[in-house]
Amino acid sequence: MERTFSIIKPDAVARNLQGEIMAMIQNAGLRIVSMKMLHLTKAQAEGFYAVHKERPFFDSLTEYMSSGPCVVMCLEGDNAIQKYRDLMGATNKDNAAEGTIRKKYALDIEKNSCHGSDGPDTAAMEIAYFFNALELVG
Ligand code: RTP
Ligand code: MG
Repeated sequence: MERTFSIIKPDAVARNLQGEIMAMIQNAGLRIVSMKMLHLTKAQAEGFYAVHKERPFFDSLTEYMSSGPCVVMCLEGDNAIQKYRDLMGATNKDNAAEGTIRKKYALDIEKNSCHGSDGPDTAAMEIAYFFNALELVG
């Protein structure tokens, strides 16, 4: 069993797509072990995406991520990190495979509806950024 961290990003929550994206996650065999809705501040979004702070899209990305509520989740399952990355599809929806969350719902390369950890170290850091041990109940 492995855990990963997921965000249903503000563009998707604004379109009321949380339930449909959660159903895709559950149908892929992943369990939601913790979940909450948050409206990140700009500073919280900057902290979360600190790895990208030198990138040209950093200011726009963190503005967008703090523009409205999002749903943060800890997911668990066999090979959960890769399984969820596969379910999300490529960062740019134009390159995302059929049947993926981003192919279905992303608006553009930035407003791409979901986030997923890209490895075990980032998964552990990202889960701990949003959840304490008592909140991981699933
Ligand atoms: P994420 O971290 O959100 O799961 O996405 P990812 O691994 O597929 O992509 P990453 O390279 O980590 O980029 C993080 C998020 O930044 C936005 N982005 N904008 N304008 C651009 O060229 C650009 N590139 C990336 C996206 O919201 C991307 O998910
Ligand atoms: Mg990433």
